[in-house]
Amino acid sequence: MERQESLAAAGQNPDRLQPTSAQRRQIEMLRNQLRHHGYRYHVLDDPEISDGAYDQLFQELVGLEARFPELVTPDSPTQRVGAAPLAAFAPVAHGMPMLSLDNAFSSEDVVEFDRRVREGLGRTDVMVYMAEPKVDGLAIGLVYRSGVLIRAATRGDGHTGEEVTSQVQSLAALPQVLSGSGWPELLEVRAEVYMPLAAFAEYNERARERGERAFANPRNAAAGSLRQLDAQVTAKRPLTLFCHGLGQVTGGVVPDAHHEVLEQLVAWGLPVCPERMVVTGVEGCLAFYRTLLAQRDRLDYEIDGVVYKVDSRADRDLLGALSRTPRWAVAHKFPGREAVTRVRAVEIQVGRTGALTPVARLEPVAVGGVTITNATLHNFQELQRKDVRVGDQVRVRRAGDVIPEVVEVVATQTSRPEVLTCPEQCPVCTAPVLQESGEVIARCSGGLSCPAQRREAIRHFASRRALDIEGLGEKLVDSLLQAGLIVTVADLYTLAAKRQELTALERMGDKSADNLLQALAVSRTHGLERFLFALGIREVGEATARNLAAHFKTLAALEAASLEELEGVPDVGPKVAAQIRGFLHAAGNRDVLARLKRESDAWQLWSENRAGSARTLEGQTVVLTGTLQSMGRPQAKARLEALGAKVSGSVSRRTDFVVAGSDPGAKLTRARELGVAVLDEAAFLEKIK
Ligand code: IVH
Repeated sequence: MERQESLAAAGQNPDRLQPTSAQRRQIEMLRNQLRHHGYRYHVLDDPEISDGAYDQLFQELVGLEARFPELVTPDSPTQRVGAAPLAAFAPVAHGMPMLSLDNAFSSEDVVEFDRRVREGLGRTDVMVYMAEPKVDGLAIGLVYRSGVLIRAATRGDGHTGEEVTSQVQSLAALPQVLSGSGWPELLEVRAEVYMPLAAFAEYNERARERGERAFANPRNAAAGSLRQLDAQVTAKRPLTLFCHGLGQVTGGVVPDAHHEVLEQLVAWGLPVCPERMVVTGVEGCLAFYRTLLAQRDRLDYEIDGVVYKVDSRADRDLLGALSRTPRWAVAHKFPGREAVTRVRAVEIQVGRTGALTPVARLEPVAVGGVTITNATLHNFQELQRKDVRVGDQVRVRRAGDVIPEVVEVVATQTSRPEVLTCPEQCPVCTAPVLQESGEVIARCSGGLSCPAQRREAIRHFASRRALDIEGLGEKLVDSLLQAGLIVTVADLYTLAAKRQELTALERMGDKSADNLLQALAVSRTHGLERFLFALGIREVGEATARNLAAHFKTLAALEAASLEELEGVPDVGPKVAAQIRGFLHAAGNRDVLARLKRESDAWQLWSENRAGSARTLEGQTVVLTGTLQSMGRPQAKARLEALGAKVSGSVSRRTDFVVAGSDPGAKLTRARELGVAVLDEAAFLEKIK
């Protein structure tokens, strides 16, 4: 009896101590599958299954091995991290192994992690943890000697990685020489290299337009871009990174608490994710998880969960590590970004530039906490390549505010209908569909006389990354168009004078009307960069809009620019230059611009580049807390950064001021303790004017 109890307590079933041959086979099969998928993911950057499906296989193997520990072999995927390095990169032995993280999939798993930590330390009081986003990119170790970057290496198998020093040197965010002072003689910083989501979307869009294969997800984009033997290729990719810890450190001292280590890294000029927080106990961890999950879609980087780390290094040392994971940290995973569902129909949508996009109508499926019923197939060439037909089971992916997409077909029925082909006439306005030679995209030639193009142009103008007119979504645009209250974007700014007709719309009460008018007022505060992007000029994404605004400074200068002058802007070639000039000089667009100038009261702001012209907050460090009424946090951050400020996640003596919205958090208390200036929303708006 006693033996049975102790076995049960160790999580083993006394009746099943001997594995059956089926269980042995299952273990072998799982290992082979995991090795195969690990190779596809780590080496080829071309996974065949979702991260969630991989985690499930991995957990199944962990479970079986826990029941039959005698079957664990040193080469089991549970005992290894990642895969072997590519032969073509020089191997680098890590001074300290680069470990992986154990996963928690539920609150119970987090409770269990905390219990194990406290048990390991013999503690009954509440633990202090550092909670951070788990950025989904590529792990990297950066070695600085006397403050100078001497080597960068990928994780590889955890012991030996690949040397990518020259590739990493092209990352603008990474200092080659540390600032400040007091760095240890040898300092290894651990970081995650990633591709920001906006840049990822733009990169993929361009790749598709060229008929090339897009990256399956931001992680692959980061890995595929960094692990280029030709560092010149890496240099052209928009990569950046966040540092999240230390590896080997000799010849110097670093702070004991992890949160202080991160602050020290910031002081040395290294980028650290601002969305981090010191929390206490399981409650603190779970509150952070909920907050971040709610913000997930607003961040400009992909996160697949959050990491909780014991803050005290002394405690970490006491807890130690297993062969592949430390006992002092855990990754609490978010719901997966991918799911499998059935295609009900394939239809064609006409976008703001007339592009015809095949779209799959799906059986509703939850992806990352949101139910989706549509997913894009991008263009007819991709539709052919993926060969998606009605009735197929498909894997779909949704991330951030990027439109969900069909990744691949996973199963088909025996009899399938034909695959949809490109029509000759626009399905909305019947104008001829044209496809320029060498172009992948087919377009409706109807221009703004096509109702679909008009509607999409307005939706784009109002979208979050454009002028961010909150509440002006698809349904409202449709009813405004149907009621004849708007025809082009310029009419949006006449709505204040048509309040009665506005409130008469279905589902539009006084409150919604006020909100819309308020959102329109806020949209007036953006500068040239966002305004240019909002116009929806073909080939002008966010990055190009930023470059154009920085180069020409005013809309008038841009309008007057010749093709040659336009081509002087980074990333603008003859094709893009022709699109810009063509757009700004088309009669219909000139009318809309002239009316916007008359109606909006915003011309001064929209037509001038403010980033760079007035960097009134240069060098200041600002912390945001609570909810702002007039704008979201990413917006506030972008505005502050455009004025030269650095937005930090935690308050310290170096903070210049804290902006407190409604329901401010502990950061406000901390600011008061340290005597840091606190601004309310009105004072903040005044400051960023
Ligand atoms: S700490 C000892 N913190 O996730 C483990 N890792 O599965 C140290 N990652 O290899 C890792 N964001 O590349 C840590 N805030 C974060 C992270 C993070 C992403 C990656 C990292 C690591 C992998 C572990």
